[in-house]
Amino acid sequence: MKYSILLASLAPTMMAAPLTRDTFEWTPTLAGYFDVVFQYMQQAKQPGQPSPTCDLSKAAMPIAPSPLPSPAGLVLEHVAVGRGVQNYTCANATATPAAVGAVARFYNASCVAADYPDLLGLIPNLALQYPLPADPSAPLAPSELQLSSHHFFSNTTTPVFTFDTPESPDFGTIFAQKVHSSDAPANAVPGISGTGNGAVPWLYLTSRSDTESEIKAVYRLSTAGGQPPETCADMPAAFSVDYSATYWFYK
Ligand SMILES: *[C@@H]1O[C@H](CO)[C@@H](O)[C@H](O)[C@H]1NC(C)=O
Ligand SMILES: *[C@@H]1O[C@H](CO)[C@@H](O)[C@H](O)[C@H]1NC(C)=O
Ligand SMILES: *[C@@H]1O[C@H](CO)[C@@H](O)[C@H](O)[C@H]1NC(C)=O
Ligand SMILES: *[C@@H]1O[C@H](CO)[C@@H](O)[C@H](O)[C@H]1NC(C)=O
Repeated sequence: MKYSILLASLAPTMMAAPLTRDTFEWTPTLAGYFDVVFQYMQQAKQPGQPSPTCDLSKAAMPIAPSPLPSPAGLVLEHVAVGRGVQNYTCANATATPAAVGAVARFYNASCVAADYPDLLGLIPNLALQYPLPADPSAPLAPSELQLSSHHFFSNTTTPVFTFDTPESPDFGTIFAQKVHSSDAPANAVPGISGTGNGAVPWLYLTSRSDTESEIKAVYRLSTAGGQPPETCADMPAAFSVDYSATYWFYK
């Protein structure tokens, strides 16, 4: 039963979306997501199928195009889908946009990572097409994943992850640093409605010494959108680009 409840929580607003969003279009992104959910639903109906366990030891990260260091010796604690913006500044029209941080809400996708790995990597593509819910504590449309944490920068080189939501276990606050990156795969979704400047790189981050958490490593994977234009021509002094990604937390 739990199997179908989780699938139901992933599926329903997808069905509702076409009726409630006047900008809705049937895109390859959405079609691919529906295909995978549909296959899982068919499988779930067959007798003898194992029920989902949300067992994170079964979850495996996708391999980056330039493989990132493995989390050897660490234990997976949480998987989130992040949805928010990457921020950039432009010094002048001939400069290159400079990355100055990001702000995102993170939603609990641990069970999806454990039990529906094919679906997990598609969720950022889909989440990117939807604005964040107006209510800051509401679940993520259209997947109904629950808010688990927040992401922001404390200075331009320090990504912060904070487990500060009342419904989630408190895994503390992680002050991280970028250690390795890989370009996103060539077929990554470049932006909203499939148009944009590309998907931000996949990253391997480690905790700085001032971290107040047992989390030691964070991966940003399965990115969609977030890249700035190549030059600052016609860009304002500061701007944001929508993105989504999965984040994997290891302790
Ligand atoms: C534009 O900004 C860049 C980066 O700050 C700087 O290196 C460059 O000298 C500036 N160019 C002009 C024409 O001001
Ligand atoms: C990023 O831009 C958003 C507006 O899009 C703003 O609310 C936020 O404070 C900015 N954060 C950083 C770290 O620059
Ligand atoms: C940014 O913040 C980190 C962590 O709080 C700190 O270690 C680092 O020195 C800061 N860097 C700058 C340039 O302020
Ligand atoms: C994520 O959801 C699972 C299943 O409901 C729960 O056990 C876990 O504590 C949640 N994790 C966070 C960080 O919210």
